Order: sequence, then C-alpha cells, then structure tokens
Amino acid sequence: MRKKIVAGNWKMNTTVPEGIELAKAVVAKSAEVPADVKLIIATPFTHLYPVAEVVKGTPVALSAENCADKEKGAYTGEVAANMLASVGCEYTILGHSERRQYYGETDEKLVEKTKLALANGLKVILCVGENLDEREAGKHFDVCEAQIKNVLYNFTAEDMKNIVIAYEPVWAIGTGKTATSEQAEEIHAFIRKVVADKFGAQVAEDTTILYGGSCKPSNAKELFAQKDIDGGLIGGAALKADDFIAIALSY
Ligand code: 13P
Repeated sequence: MRKKIVAGNWKMNTTVPEGIELAKAVVAKSAEVPADVKLIIATPFTHLYPVAEVVKGTPVALSAENCADKEKGAYTGEVAANMLASVGCEYTILGHSERRQYYGETDEKLVEKTKLALANGLKVILCVGENLDEREAGKHFDVCEAQIKNVLYNFTAEDMKNIVIAYEPVWAIGTGKTATSEQAEEIHAFIRKVVADKFGAQVAEDTTILYGGSCKPSNAKELFAQKDIDGGLIGGAALKADDFIAIALSY
C-alpha cells in the first residue's frame, strides 16, 4: 500500500534558530494530522542536526534537500549520504528542478546520488517535471518519462520501496500557478504507468507520487483527491507551520 506523504522543502530559507522554531511548531501541530499521513521536513544541511533533535520520537521525519554523488573524500563543500544518515535523516530529496537548473544536476549524477542514498539507508524523494517551454510544446510526458527512465530504470523493484517520486512542473514552482488537478492527475497516472512498464503493476500501485508546485491550503484538497496524487512536496507554504499542517489536513 502506498503512503500518503506531505513533505515540506524549506529550500535555502531560515537561519538555524528560525528553523528550530519552525520545526518545533510543526511538531506541536503534528498531533492534529491523521496517523496515515506522513509528515516530512526537508531542511538545509546546517539545520539537520538540531532539527533531528526536535523531531526525534515524533511523527515528523527529517529529510535533506540533496546529497553528494560521491561516497567520501576530497569533494570540498559536498555532503555525503552516510553523513546525512548519521544525523538522523530518513529521506533526501534528489533531482529538484532548482538543482537541475542552477547546479548542473544531470540524470547521470542522480543515478549515483540515488545509489549512495539507498546504500546508506536513506529513502529518496526523486523530483521530475517539465519547464514551461516543454509544457507549451506538449513535451511534458516525454520529459517526465525520460527523467524517470534515465534514473529509476537503473534500480530494482526492491529499491522502489524506498523511492518516492515528486512531480513538480517547473512553471508551477514558486509562481503561484498551480497545475490544475486534471493536469496533475493526468501526468501522475502517466508516471505510474512508466513505473509499471519496468517494475510491474504492483510496484507502480505501491509507489507514492507527490505533487509539488504552488500547493497551498486552498488547493491541496482538490489535488489530493485525485486517484494518483499521494500527497505534496511543499515549498513556500511549508515555511509557515499553520499552512503546512493545513495542507496535511486536506486529505
Ligand atoms: P512552491 O510550493 O514554493 O511552489 O515550491 C514547490 C517546490 O519546489 C517543492 O520542492
């Protein structure tokens, strides 16, 4: 059975003290959220250790926003998957469009990152999604299919138990323009089919596929009501505990 997940991606926001306060506020309100909706917060690297202390023993899980494509060694400025595991991360986001766009994250690097994350016991939230030009050219299905094939087809059905997919249309991220629930459902169903083509119907059925892109309390209910949308990856609205929890309560 696939999980319902509401994950907050803080991106490069909040100082450490602000992040600790935000995590505490999320934890304080998490009791309102039904137990079958998993809450995750993804914070900057600097915040992980203190926030791990805040979420320890609570229903809120901790995620990183990225990890290195190398195991260890002379890679100045990088943070390895085993380091993330050692501070108490359960997840890491990989392949966010901002990393693909601004930091040269390629599908090849994502294969390495995913391998290392899984090998170190982390679950992966792999982001896919098309940009505006690709959407307008009608290439969104092809783009998502290629991103999934290039990365996930290198893994096994067993690995897929620890992989969540997040569909995030780039044109909807931070723009206030949400994909309509029909647009989102159409591509989520398609992504599930791409997973089924390689791993079979049962694995596809069990794979959690999140929607991300201007998801907020006012539109979450309609999005989450779609058959193939299993929750959200939330950016801006995750920076306010009330909004984040309101989204989680939209199930
Ligand atoms: P927004 O919710 O701010 O549009 O960001 C979505 C996102 O990129 C989550 O990873």
